[in-house]
Parts: sequence; structure tokens; C-alpha cells
Amino acid sequence: MNQINWEELKQAAISAMKKAYAPYSKFPVGVAALVSDNRIITGCNVENASYGVGLCAECGLVSNLYTSGGGRLVAVVCVDGKGNFLSPCGRCRQLLFEHGGNEMLFMTPDGPTQLSKLLPWAFGPADLK
Ligand code: THU
Repeated sequence: MNQINWEELKQAAISAMKKAYAPYSKFPVGVAALVSDNRIITGCNVENASYGVGLCAECGLVSNLYTSGGGRLVAVVCVDGKGNFLSPCGRCRQLLFEHGGNEMLFMTPDGPTQLSKLLPWAFGPADLK
């Protein structure tokens, strides 16, 4: 795995954010990830008139992970409508954990951090064994 190009990931997240469908919250979100085979994937939030069933950007990201070939999430950047780094919601931390694990890196305003810091002692696939 080459060094992580965080700026490229941020720009990909901003591009994805510009495609968000967020007419209700007016809070567009974009996310981009480096995958274990070095490709970059993205996602954006897609809201719904039935507010509770809106999809977070990370949901689209994980779907795109599989439609584009699978693999593991290595590094993730999430941005808000201003392009600022955004903290993932609790449900999305669980989504990211399933496909990136404790070592996955997530960009914060203080720099990259491991997912294990955002979701300590996570419940995951190993608990079902
Ligand atoms: N949102 C995401 O897409 N990801 C997160 O991690 C936090 C929240 C979206 C959901 C909703 O469409 C909007 O942000 C406002 O909550």
C-alpha cells in the first residue's frame, strides 16, 4: 500500500458531497475512501420525504465498495457542505468498522485517527464466532 494521499481523498469527498440529495436537512455530506487495492470510492447522503429512512453518505460508500469489487476500507475522509472534515454518526462508525476494522484510518481536524479511537471495543464479526 502506497502512502495515503489525503488531499486526493478530500477532493473526492468534496466532489461526492456536491452530488448529495439533501433537500430536507440541507446538510450535504460526501465521503471518500481508499480501498485495499488502491482504488478510491465515494458516497453521498440521499435523504427521503420519510425523514427517518434517509441514507448517510457512508451507506452509499459501503454499497459502492461492493459494486466496484469489494475489499477493505483503508482510509476514509468525510466532509460537510463547506468541505470541513465531518465526524461520522454512530451508526456509520459501525458500518465502517465492519469493512475497515480497528486499523482503518479516519481523517479528523487533528489528523488521521484509527477507527478504534472513534468506536472503542466495537462489536463486530469476530463476536459472532
Ligand atoms: N449524515 C451523513 O451522511 N453521514 C454522517 O456520518 C452524519 C450525518 C447526513 C444524514 C443527513 O442526511 C444529514 O447528514 C443531516 O443529518
